Order: sequence, then structure tokens, then C-alpha cells
Amino acid sequence: MEQLVSSDFKLGVVAGGQLGKMLTLAASNWDVKTFVMDSDPNCPSAHTSSELVIGDFRSFDDVLAFGRKVDLLTIEIEHVNVDALDQLLKEGVCISPHPEALRIIQDKGLQKQFYQENDLPSAAFRLFESADAIRAAYAEGSLELPFVQKSRTEGYDGRGVFVAKTQEDLDRLLPTASVVEAMVNLSKELAVVVCRNPSGETKCFPPVEMQFNPEANLVEFLMCPADVSEAIAKASESLAEKVAESMKVVGILAVEMFLDEEGTLLVNEVAPRPHNSGHHTIETLYTSQYEQHLRAIFGFPLGSTRIKVPSIMINILGEPGYAGPVKYQGLTECMAVEGVKFHIYGKKETRPFRKMGHATIMDPDIHRAVEKARYVQQTLKVIA
Ligand SMILES: Nc1ncnc2c1ncn2[C@@H]1O[C@H](COP(=O)(O)OP(=O)(O)OP(=O)(O)O)[C@@H](O)[C@H]1O
Ligand SMILES: [Mg+2]
Repeated sequence: MEQLVSSDFKLGVVAGGQLGKMLTLAASNWDVKTFVMDSDPNCPSAHTSSELVIGDFRSFDDVLAFGRKVDLLTIEIEHVNVDALDQLLKEGVCISPHPEALRIIQDKGLQKQFYQENDLPSAAFRLFESADAIRAAYAEGSLELPFVQKSRTEGYDGRGVFVAKTQEDLDRLLPTASVVEAMVNLSKELAVVVCRNPSGETKCFPPVEMQFNPEANLVEFLMCPADVSEAIAKASESLAEKVAESMKVVGILAVEMFLDEEGTLLVNEVAPRPHNSGHHTIETLYTSQYEQHLRAIFGFPLGSTRIKVPSIMINILGEPGYAGPVKYQGLTECMAVEGVKFHIYGKKETRPFRKMGHATIMDPDIHRAVEKARYVQQTLKVIA
């Protein structure tokens, strides 16, 4: 695939959010031309791609027309129109990840069945057509509280997840077809970003530990390396590799996992694209997840995933109570701190808890990195 570097080869990326932006920046290091499709002319990738094509990733016609313009197609969002991808495959366009993997991943019900069929440990579950069916199962005694209800489709960033603890919660269930999962007694939430190339070579990035903002249900603090034993770290990597191999994914697969109180690892969900839990790799590992994804989909050998320095990654979220044209307050103070690296995505408008950027905070001593991350969180405010 050497010929794609500094040539007229066109890499297409469906959607131009922050993941698309960082992917196109990595591609530009190799002088690869990137075509990005997004419905927003001011999306984060607007100025980092070679060409922005306006189109909706859910539209069959838009995805089909876009795919026909490029030599290789990849995605930064999994909710892309898969029927259009199937058609493009038939027409000979190369697509990574394969639409079949996307079809499974888009539906949390199919995802859970896939784990079951492939002997991949995950929380016990049942599928329901509606909220009424869940209430009926509870009434007849075949379902117990607490449980976690997840919309089969369209869940993202904690939307589409409902934790039911009490009988009153049963009146507030999501009205959609859903997966109902046993509530796991979480000790930690981990993510392993794994990458697989077409020759079947796989490499994992070291596991990271995710800590959540309970109000927004978004990851707010991400630690690399995770504070787990070497045995757990190794087990989490083998589990991620097993998932990637079972799905035959080419490119990045981010595997979100639970470590329960008994020390068992369970797969929560996967994303077949660069992931929020791999942002730190840009600065703190030998190879970033974005470069790794490109290496894989272009058929190059995968890069080293050794850690250069421990880090904390924080998402920079829109402050609650503010919506409108964005302003960043406190950047100057934060930039004065050693090892703080900002990525501002370029979204013009802020909203409460919208992901506006992230910061990677590096320090040879992870405890010092944590202190600095707390300072950045308290000092930097995204307001309108
Ligand atoms: N079975 C479970 N037991 C306990 N907690 C759970 C369970 N399932 C989900 N959660 C909690 O809810 C969070 C969100 O769930 P999940 O990752 O499935 O949803 P999501 O909306 O796709 O998330 P995101 O897009 O933010 O990754 C998990 O990170 C975890 O904190
Ligand atoms: Mg999740």
C-alpha cells in the first residue's frame, strides 16, 4: 500500500467530528488525501480534511454517493447507513471496518448475542420489545430489580441507558426495544483499544481506567496505565484481542469492560473506530490510536503501543447552564502547568456537557498527573 502515500489515493471518512479531525490530522502526516462527509460545514474536520463533502451519515443516498468518490472508506461514527456500505462493497469499494461488524455493533441486542455465541464474557441479559414487556416480566416475577435497560439502537454517550433500582423507576423506562442487563457490581471500568490489520496481526494499547461523571454519565477522567494488577491488565488485553478476532475487525476496536468485585472481566460494549479512551495515545504512547487505525486499514505493520509517560485524559465539557457561541475561560492558567496538552475540537456552539475538547496531562508520577488534572478541571470553564 506504499503507493497511497503522496498520491491521488483518497481516504474517505464518514463523519467529521473530533475523531474524524484527529484521524485526518494523522493521515496528513503521511500526505494521504482525506475526504470527510458531514452535514455540518463547520464540523471539527472541516479544516483538517483535504475536502469536506456535505452529507448525512444516516442517509443511504449520501453515503453511497460519498463512497463512490473514494478508494477506501472508514468511519468515525458507527451509526452510519450500513445498507449503503453493503452496496458500496458490491461495487468494489474497500471498507474498514466491515459493514457486517457495524451491523452487529449498531444494535446492542445483536452485540450481546454475539458475545454469547462467541463465548465472550458479558453481563447476563434479556431482550424486550417494549417498556410494557419489561414491566410484564417484572410483574410475573421473571425479572428482578435492579437492572440496566439499554436502548438497542441509537444509544451514545450514556443516552439510551437507564438504571432501574426501584418500583417507581419502572414508570420511567425507555420506551424502546431494549436490552435489559443484570446490574454488575463494578469495581472498575476499563477500556482496551485493540487494533487488527488484514493479516490478522493484533496489538493492544495498555488498558485505561475510566471514571465517570455521574450527572452527565460521561467519562471525565481517564487514567493510563490503569491501576490494576499485571494479571488483570494481561487478561483485559487477551479479552480485547479475542473480541477483535471474533468480529474480524480491521482497524481499531475499542473494548469497554467492567471489572466486577470478584475480579471478573466482562465486555460492556465495543466501538469499531478510534475512541474517547484512546485520545492520550497521541502524546503518551509510541503510536497514536489514529495512526494505528490508518496502519491497519492500509495494511501496514502495526506500531508499538509502549507507554512513553503516564497520563490522565480529561474531556473538556460544556459547562451546565451555558449554551451558545463558545468561550474558553482559564486556558492561560492551565497552559502554564507542565505536561498539559489541549485539543480544542472547534465546535462553534457549546451546550451543557457537550464534548468540546480534551486535555492530556502527562507526568512521570501518575499521582501528580491526577492533581494537575483536577486543577485543569476546576480552572478551565467552557461557557457561552
Ligand atoms: N450492566 C451494567 N451494570 C452496571 N453498570 C452499567 C451496566 N451497563 C452499563 N453501566 C453503566 O452505564 C454506562 C454506560 O453504558 P454503555 O457504555 O452501555 O452506554 P453508552 O451510552 O453506549 O455509553 P458511551 O457511549 O458513553 O460509551 C457504563 O459505562 C456503566 O457505568
Ligand atoms: Mg459505553
